[in-house]
Amino acid sequence: MRFFPVFMCTIGGAFATSRITPPSGSITVCSSGCNYSTIQAAVSSISTSSTSAHSIFIYSGTYTEQVTIPVISGKLSIYGYTTNTATYADNVVNLEWDSSLASGAADDEETAALINLSPNVAVYNINIKNTYGEGSQAIALSAYNTQQGYYGVGLYGYQDTLLAETGNQVYGYCYIQGAVDFIFGQHARIWITKSDIAVSAGGGCITANGRSSSSDVSYYVIDESTVAAASGYNVNAETVFLGRPWSEYATVCFQETSLSDIINPAGWSEWSTSEPNTEDVTFLEYENTGAGASGTRANFSTKLSSAISISTILGTDHADWVDTSYI
Ligand SMILES: *[C@@H]1O[C@H](CO)[C@@H](O)[C@H](O)[C@H]1NC(C)=O
Ligand SMILES: *[C@@H]1O[C@H](CO)[C@@H](O)[C@H](O)[C@H]1NC(C)=O
Repeated sequence: MRFFPVFMCTIGGAFATSRITPPSGSITVCSSGCNYSTIQAAVSSISTSSTSAHSIFIYSGTYTEQVTIPVISGKLSIYGYTTNTATYADNVVNLEWDSSLASGAADDEETAALINLSPNVAVYNINIKNTYGEGSQAIALSAYNTQQGYYGVGLYGYQDTLLAETGNQVYGYCYIQGAVDFIFGQHARIWITKSDIAVSAGGGCITANGRSSSSDVSYYVIDESTVAAASGYNVNAETVFLGRPWSEYATVCFQETSLSDIINPAGWSEWSTSEPNTEDVTFLEYENTGAGASGTRANFSTKLSSAISISTILGTDHADWVDTSYI
């Protein structure tokens, strides 16, 4: 049976459309007969100094490569072929890479299938996977700049799937899979909305925010999303936490999100017994629902009395760069 996220019924018809031909002017990628046969070659063909907008259109297929987007002066949009732009569930473009700290990457960031160093990038309908699996840090996406948008994107990993490190970033109608600290980073402000967070094993934490001082701007909000066991994986009840503080000023909110019974009644965890890091954290919840939303929460977490707005996180001018059909 096909799985449709519950919120799909709220999507307007104009948004749920296909994108099966390249937008005018796009650089195309496919195994043969396109401008390039690898995503990296298409990215590398773009002038980093030109301030013109560029787009890349990727046809259906699995691309086994590591892609680095350098800092590019113009806006870059990357589109995966899809018959339904409104969801990750019909994605047919896969970017896969197998790397981990244990298998010799120079550092965690460099394990990623996609390393995005550029501001002003929008990525649509691509599955980005680190296929290493369990046992070591292995990132799918290293997001290292501001005004980055990910729309209908699937991110797959086990430990450290999404490194949201710097800048303002938005994730709309996305899928994020992992088991250990799989949404993490130090300085970014991120708005994850209308997305499915899928856990593939118990015993870990979803977020590990590394905000290390009261003046750091980092803030993670998970809004109007779902948290549940990944389809096909067995995760015991009450074995998963919403987050733990990688650094002592960790700041994370889950709001208006459906939490399945995999979430522990305490909600949030210490970093470790010897280094709890809990004194100055900001761990927030507002109007979450589901079996995992109830229970006696950790005393270092707080229930809000109103939702945080996207403008608070991404600024009142966020519509200048965010694709608002995905928020
Ligand atoms: C891509 O290929 C098309 C069709 O051959 C061609 O018209 C276009 O100029 C190419 N674009 C680039 C950037 O190479
Ligand atoms: C919070 O709970 C922990 C563990 O139960 C306890 O040791 C600590 O004293 C509590 N802190 C406050 C401020 O109540």
